[in-house]
Amino acid sequence: MTEYIPGFANHVSTEAVPGALPIGRNSPQKPPFGLYAEQLSGTAFTAPRHENRRSWLYRLRPSAEHPPFVRYDGARQFAPGTVAEPLAPNRLRWDPIAESAPGADLIDGMTTMLANRDPADLEGVVLHLYSANKDMNARVFVDADGELLFVPQDGRLTLLTELGRIDIEPGQIALVPRGVRFRALLPDGHARGYVAENHGALFRLPDLGPIGANGLANPRDFETPVAWFEDRDEPFEVVQKYLGSLWTTTLHHSPLDVVAWHGNLTPWRYDLSRFNTINTVSFDHPDPSIFTVLTSPSDVPGRANADFVIFPPRWMVAEGTFRPPWFHRNVMSEAMGLITGAYDAKAEGFQPGGLSLHNLLSGHGPDKATWDAASNADLKPHKIDGTMAFMLESCWPYKPTRFAMAHAQPDYDECWADFPKAKLP
Ligand SMILES: [Fe+2]
Repeated sequence: MTEYIPGFANHVSTEAVPGALPIGRNSPQKPPFGLYAEQLSGTAFTAPRHENRRSWLYRLRPSAEHPPFVRYDGARQFAPGTVAEPLAPNRLRWDPIAESAPGADLIDGMTTMLANRDPADLEGVVLHLYSANKDMNARVFVDADGELLFVPQDGRLTLLTELGRIDIEPGQIALVPRGVRFRALLPDGHARGYVAENHGALFRLPDLGPIGANGLANPRDFETPVAWFEDRDEPFEVVQKYLGSLWTTTLHHSPLDVVAWHGNLTPWRYDLSRFNTINTVSFDHPDPSIFTVLTSPSDVPGRANADFVIFPPRWMVAEGTFRPPWFHRNVMSEAMGLITGAYDAKAEGFQPGGLSLHNLLSGHGPDKATWDAASNADLKPHKIDGTMAFMLESCWPYKPTRFAMAHAQPDYDECWADFPKAKLP
């Protein structure tokens, strides 16, 4: 693995076979060893230089060599579309999804829960859950609709991508760019977690403003893989998500055959324990934007298409303050997951592997038990430990899938019932 900085024009060059990477030309008349040169772009050709992202791949066979795609129907809960009915302004929460039946790899073990915007809009995000128990051996997945941010919750993942190998475990995250083919192995035999699929501007590190040159997710902690390939001439299925539907075709070889590459569009991984958490040392509960790991901007300054935000272990020292989140109604829409431990605004009902949705302007905040405890707490310095929650916040209200609507907790509203009325003098 080598250092990589999301959103910066740093450049990686790597070759799995010495001499495979052309020097001085991206598309030489005859690349070394008869390899095929291919550009994979992550932004428009004419994007500003500091946002322009592309990589050049040198491979055993061109990606263009494939038979027609046909509809894929092996993944019943993956990319099924969202509910068509008008969406009520209700808070929603889900227990972890059931284990997949044996034989489900990462593709077939995927359940789409929340989505906003159409992939063809080039805006919006989707939140999927996965429960998988089988390696992807002779098949790969590729998402033409967006980059994929993997957030493991239970069990390790090995992502064998066109640009190299990434190993992650719960507490780490990994990103596979839009259009990069990969297959997933499960070193523990099973794996569960979350996937954020981003149709919009590529995730990048947020600006730091007055925080200064350091802090939050530091660039040096992002790692990108070195070139790796497999030379397998055998039937290989390619499942592709394309404009919201799944498609399949079969090649006569593995498409993970990139022998060398260079560029600034790459997969990467990041260990969330390296997040430099910044918070108040005086009073009040800062807005959760202080915990932003990655942002995907929209066209409106300061209004994210998607922010990936974490709630990591941290000291709580605010004086004279209700330390958990106060009640709030936000114009941004909040989808939350829990990787491990407990989230400090909820006493129960939000389990690791679960999910919640507080959409556009829905009133929410601490449940009654949390409000009771935090209102009467002795405000000594206190460390919240052993926890990691995340939020995928978006300016576009989410719509649940039909599966998600059918499986929401029926009684979520009750955690905000029975607050005592304020007493005026
Ligand atoms: Fe919230």
